[in-house]
Amino acid sequence: MSQASLRSSRITGTGSYLPERVLTNHDLEKIVETSDEWITTRTGISERRIAAPDQACSDLAFIAAQRALEMAGVAARELDGVIVGTVTGDMQFPATAALVQHRLGAVNASAFDVSAACSGFIYGVNIAHGMIAAGRMNKVLVVGAEVLSKFVDWSDRATCVLFGDGAGAAVIETGPAGEGILSTYMKSDGSLAELLCIPGGGSRRPFDAATVPEHLHFIKMKGDGVFKWAVRAMADAARIVVEDAGCRFEDVALMIPHQANIRIIDAVIERLEFPRERVVVNLDRFGNTSSATIPTAYDEAVRSGRLKPGDLVVFSGFGGGFTWGSVLLRHSITV
Ligand code: ACO
Repeated sequence: MSQASLRSSRITGTGSYLPERVLTNHDLEKIVETSDEWITTRTGISERRIAAPDQACSDLAFIAAQRALEMAGVAARELDGVIVGTVTGDMQFPATAALVQHRLGAVNASAFDVSAACSGFIYGVNIAHGMIAAGRMNKVLVVGAEVLSKFVDWSDRATCVLFGDGAGAAVIETGPAGEGILSTYMKSDGSLAELLCIPGGGSRRPFDAATVPEHLHFIKMKGDGVFKWAVRAMADAARIVVEDAGCRFEDVALMIPHQANIRIIDAVIERLEFPRERVVVNLDRFGNTSSATIPTAYDEAVRSGRLKPGDLVVFSGFGGGFTWGSVLLRHSITV
């Protein structure tokens, strides 16, 4: 299909859901040997939300999705696709997207998960944009949802202080050319897979009597390796979508980076010479919610009136795999 015949797409509604329970750094001081001062200065995180024992990934995703559909004025039956980016789904299979599809009543949609860790939402937007461009779908729901608290090793102070639970969603529909999603990018490097993973429970190391005492069902991370690499990947990804669309960074109204660590965000914007006041940060309140960081931050910016139609917005993220990617859009929602 030639470029000329590709259709444009835009985000018409956003929604998010963060569980009620707040876990502060001071609460964590009672669980592992750490301090509010260490966590705040090394990561920028003050507190995070934790799902209730009976809340699974699809429960969070469902609420965020309902809110996004409501803002878009789209009925669930109109959806052609439901895509959930997650690494903490309800079950190994079926896809969490199928569970969300059923609860929403999106009976005309196909539903599948994207396994790209923290880049799951960005990958989902890339796929939805491509399906709409090719004329295969008209209305797609993309969700980033995680219940990381159930996969965190609460005895490992190096990881348990970083993560939180949450979900964010966006409805993507066809739209006029020059509005909405202008450019997308995604990339992977599997040679870095072991820097960030949950090693147990798959076909490489199925659960058995040894995997539990070895804590193989929990998140393992080599933090310093992730850090250096993430800065370059996120900065490059942001630059690529802006240049690809023929835009300039000076004209970008808001950058929404993946929220893993405030020092990573600061290093990215320093590389790009991008002003801090035009960057959305929510990790101080929610920690790293993986695939949910970007859609929850975008939803907050939309609902708080921080954006006006026509503003250029960049999403840029990275995650386990490794995966990374970005989206440039011309904001077109009025609330
Ligand atoms: N409280 C107190 N001390 C701690 C804690 C803690 N919670 N965690 C680690 N330490 C200690 C370490 O044991 C180490 O002690 P030592 O010097 O006696 O060995 C010391 O603090 C310094 O540890 P470093 O790992 O060097 O600390 P660093 O400044 O690199 O910060 C961190 C660690 C926050 C993990 C950082 O490397 C980081 O942010 N990495 C990026 C990875 C990331 O953000 N991952 C999130 C998930 S990835 C994603 O979203 C795709």
